[in-house]
Amino acid sequence: MSHILVTGGAGFIGSNFVRFVLDNTAHSVTVLDKLTYAANTASLEGLPASRFTVVQGDIADADVVDGLVASHDAVVHYAAESHNDNSLDDPRPFLDSNIVGTYTLLEAARRHGTRFHHISTDEVYGDLELDDPNRFTESTAYNPSSPYSSTKAASDLLVRAWVRSFGVDATISNCSNNYGPYQHVEKFIPRQITNVLIGERPKLYGAGANVRDWIHADDHSSAVLTILERGRIGETYLIGADGEKNNREVIELILQQLGQPSDAYDHVVDRPGHDLRYAIDSTKLRTELGWTPRFTNFADGLASTIDWYRDNRAWWEPQKAAAEARYQAQGQ
Ligand code: NAD
Ligand code: DAU
Repeated sequence: MSHILVTGGAGFIGSNFVRFVLDNTAHSVTVLDKLTYAANTASLEGLPASRFTVVQGDIADADVVDGLVASHDAVVHYAAESHNDNSLDDPRPFLDSNIVGTYTLLEAARRHGTRFHHISTDEVYGDLELDDPNRFTESTAYNPSSPYSSTKAASDLLVRAWVRSFGVDATISNCSNNYGPYQHVEKFIPRQITNVLIGERPKLYGAGANVRDWIHADDHSSAVLTILERGRIGETYLIGADGEKNNREVIELILQQLGQPSDAYDHVVDRPGHDLRYAIDSTKLRTELGWTPRFTNFADGLASTIDWYRDNRAWWEPQKAAAEARYQAQGQ
């Protein structure tokens, strides 16, 4: 049995991983989270107190980080500023949390010899043309577009350097777009579901031809646990579930599933520098570690996500007005 420190465990994907580990293993978990606007401690309610604790703190605070890393067997590092649109408005917190925060954790892992798994994104590779037959692989060159993705790319490179120069026992995973319960309403899918639920029209950036490669957050968590337990040190693994869809298709499906006309949405101003297409080739993870996704039907996964937002208004309603106010200021 291991003690795992999960940074960012009060956010969307981190909290999913915490629940997944507590449900499927005998490990215990400590969450280290700054509890920014993106966190929601309600996502962690009802977990077994004997195997689970939350510490509020900043991953860029070396004193807080050092003691926690020293007393755990592994760090799974999710904490980050995660939203592209916010990074276009104010990049600074992205540098502090994503770069300095990762550096601070790596230094502690180096001092204490702690196993480290770094959670990253497919956005570090930039974007693909719509008709490009290639997908991202572990050897695709880094080419990030936004302040968010460039800070994630920087954090990946720090991890690689700390492996090679200092022998830190680290692995990296780069995953595609996640969906599922407990995702902040600023993100595409929950924004549109909750818009319909409050009687607002969904908002599509530009023409909506942009493609994202959707994966259910539970599948991301099972992949991360697999890599943590069996991944080769120093290696990068891409995580994806063959879920390419363009944004227009996704909005139309949400409207259909909520019983609305499929054209009942607004086109709004496009995101500056908007990446066109992401697509993951996860052959390495599947063949080397035997991982496979469980959620292979996007329409079914989306329907259960919609049910969750319909049944859990108290979880998201307090965030909704502030998220929409930020979008209104950006004309979106
Ligand atoms: P999120 O915004 O929902 O959660 C981020 C969490 O990190 C929040 O709880 C926040 O309070 C915490 N945090 C932020 N800065 C911190 C700091 N300085 N110290 C401590 N805690 C801090 O994000 P998410 O969507 O769950 O993404 C989690 C991770 O997964 C990120 O590293 C992101 O880059 C990566 N990722 C996300 C996706 C996706 O589709 N959402 C896909 C691939 C990778
Ligand atoms: O690919 C992985 C990345 O996926 C993660 O690294 C990021 O943390 C995560 O936020 C996500 O980034 P995206 O920018 O792809 O996700 P977002 O939900 O913001 O937008 C998804 C797509 O939908 C994108 O093409 C922009 C578009 N969009 C978004 C919003 C909020 C809209 O058309 N309308 C909207 O209202």
